[in-house]
Amino acid sequence: MPPLEEALLVPSSPGRFKIYRPQSHIMNRAFHRCFASTTMVLLWALILIAFTASYLTFVDTGNRYLHHSSFWDHGGIGGIQWEKKVRSSAQILRADGISVLVTGAAGFIGTHVALALKTRGDGVVGVDNFDNYYGPSLKRTRRALLEAHGVFIVDGDINDQRLLAKLFDTVAFTHVMHLAAQVGVRYGVDNPYSYVHSNVAGLVTLLEQCKCAGRQPAVVWASSGSVYGVNNKAPFSESDPANPPASLYASTKKTGEEITHTYNRLYGLSITGLRFFTVYGPWGRPDMVYFSFTRNISEGTPITVYRVKDRVDLARDFIYIDDVVKGCVASLDTSGKSTGSGGKKKGSAPYRIFNLGNSISSPVTVPAMVRILEDSLGMKAKMDVTDVTGNVDFSFPHVNISLAQKELGYNPTTDLQSGLRKFVKWYLWYYGKPSAHLNQF
Ligand SMILES: NC(=O)c1ccc[n+]([C@@H]2O[C@H](COP(=O)([O-])OP(=O)(O)OC[C@H]3O[C@@H](n4cnc5c(N)ncnc54)[C@H](O)[C@@H]3O)[C@@H](O)[C@H]2O)c1
Repeated sequence: MPPLEEALLVPSSPGRFKIYRPQSHIMNRAFHRCFASTTMVLLWALILIAFTASYLTFVDTGNRYLHHSSFWDHGGIGGIQWEKKVRSSAQILRADGISVLVTGAAGFIGTHVALALKTRGDGVVGVDNFDNYYGPSLKRTRRALLEAHGVFIVDGDINDQRLLAKLFDTVAFTHVMHLAAQVGVRYGVDNPYSYVHSNVAGLVTLLEQCKCAGRQPAVVWASSGSVYGVNNKAPFSESDPANPPASLYASTKKTGEEITHTYNRLYGLSITGLRFFTVYGPWGRPDMVYFSFTRNISEGTPITVYRVKDRVDLARDFIYIDDVVKGCVASLDTSGKSTGSGGKKKGSAPYRIFNLGNSISSPVTVPAMVRILEDSLGMKAKMDVTDVTGNVDFSFPHVNISLAQKELGYNPTTDLQSGLRKFVKWYLWYYGKPSAHLNQF
């Protein structure tokens, strides 16, 4: 019953009146009945929840979209400033020059190769995810060095399809120098997935992009001498069977050789795989033995030198960085063209594999290397000699480089003594007092 002041008395017949209830009261009653019903209350509650959820989803998606688009469109990856930097870095400044995407450009070999290409007038764009396998501060310094020479390194992962597509949309790369990888042998025990991520999945993502390009680039990429695995035959030649691998790192590099072969056969990509042996030199990798020995000797802390079965000293085929760079550049220059376009093969393309090792003073035992470091530093090493146990790469790389000599004109000229002297000189310059920088690793 509505409140009285809302009811009107209207005549129904002479002398009689009935109470007239306005329509709103009828609706109110229906409304009340509606809400009084438990089912309807539940229904309304559900509708309310659904509205709230879709509102929140909308706000979240919107935020992400706004954040993402601003990242891509205003100075971040894909923005106008970004495109300008990429184009300027890719500019070719010599007749018959090439434009090269260098992956792993903030890495040891990548930095040297990018610099060599830029110096001779080629267009170079780098990409690197600055992973923290070893101190990112060294990678950032290498990046600064490259930027000072006009090479732009995009901070990104080779698994990022959208990034690669954007790079290839911005520049018609003639070549890809693929050096990005999870490196190191023992780290496979702690972080096996990083090898699959960078050396297998990342490789496939990059090859997919190359395959789909309108004008496919030629691909030169870093395999490794470690693919020879536990083979006893020496010296290792490209025609020898390369198995079984002695580490997860070696397995992923071997897998990379199979994968690149498939892309060559199916899509006409020109592929050159380079089996590097132990590369050393200025701006090198702190995880490598010549580097850590230099640090320890100069700090007066002990080094451990391993011996294999029957007290045989471990030996390595050491190759100086400048020689490796010449091999990489010669591989780019002689790579031959990819034949496909937009994912379709139009003819067969070259598939090559080369050993890039040393021939001058190779292989060198680890104690011999220590003696050279002692001479260069003018300090005596505190050496613990230990027989090998457990998870150590037993390989004894000694390499035949005659194929690279013949086809690439590859002729290493730096012996270990001069190369290590140059490295030690750089080390002392870069780190000054070594103890001040130890925390970077
Ligand atoms: N240095 C050697 O003695 C040696 C020997 C054999 C093979 N190789 C191969 O040569 C190449 C270069 O080696 P290096 O010694 O310069 O190593 P490096 O670690 O200094 O360089 C590799 C670079 O790749 C980057 N990277 C790793 N994963 C990536 C990813 N998913 N996306 C983008 N960037 C990524 C790293 O941040 C690093 O800067 C590697 O493929 C390595 O396996 C090196």
